[in-house]
Amino acid sequence: MVREIRVDYRDGGPITVPNANKPLELLKDWIKEAVDNNLIEANAMCLSTVSKDGFPRSRMVLLKHINDSEIGFFTNLESDKAHDIEYNENVAVTFFWPSLEKQVRILGKASEFSREIVFDYHNSRPRLSQIAAYTSFQSKELESIGKLDDEFRVTEEKFKDQEIPLPNHWGGYKIIIHSIEYWSGRPSRLHERVSLKFINNEWIEKRLYP
Ligand SMILES: Cc1cc2nc3c(=O)[nH]c(=O)nc-3n(C[C@H](O)[C@H](O)[C@H](O)COP(=O)(O)O)c2cc1C
Repeated sequence: MVREIRVDYRDGGPITVPNANKPLELLKDWIKEAVDNNLIEANAMCLSTVSKDGFPRSRMVLLKHINDSEIGFFTNLESDKAHDIEYNENVAVTFFWPSLEKQVRILGKASEFSREIVFDYHNSRPRLSQIAAYTSFQSKELESIGKLDDEFRVTEEKFKDQEIPLPNHWGGYKIIIHSIEYWSGRPSRLHERVSLKFINNEWIEKRLYP
């Protein structure tokens, strides 16, 4: 069955990097295009880390920070991904918007956000998300889904009529990027790829075969 699944890409659009020294500008444009097209989870990205035993581990997270040289996300600081980053700061990130026929791949080095930034973001989140972050022992074994629901209610009750404090186990990571590749679909699998790499203190732009 899977052999018959086939998408013919038509027009992801030409890739024009406006300024190689601002490699994330085009990513910002593409996320805006995804938002303007009402795509669900326009800022979702697949984050890959390397675990202590040398295996890559990938999972989706939400992009919540972007500037000229770095991107960032928020998570549990005792999760598997956090342990991986503690051990190996090198990470990879992939975005894919199928209906736009666009993909972006990034390599970079991750480090924890300051507590000020985390606190600021925590305060901006809906209360139920704050309660979930407070309650979840992300990546640890859970006996039953009922236990999670019970623990959620305990946290809710504990902080009734109060603000949910920022848990010590919750935070985020910025990723300083050192390479980025833009991909755009074209007919007959002749897709466009443009790679930007930071080498000897400058951004080098190259086109790649698909
Ligand atoms: C679309 C989507 C977005 C997600 N965003 C986040 C996120 O921003 N932060 C997070 O910790 N987990 C997020 N998750 C859950 C992760 O994929 C993952 O299950 C969780 O972080 C545990 O990963 P780990 O055990 O490898 O640390 C998201 C999942 C999906 C499907």
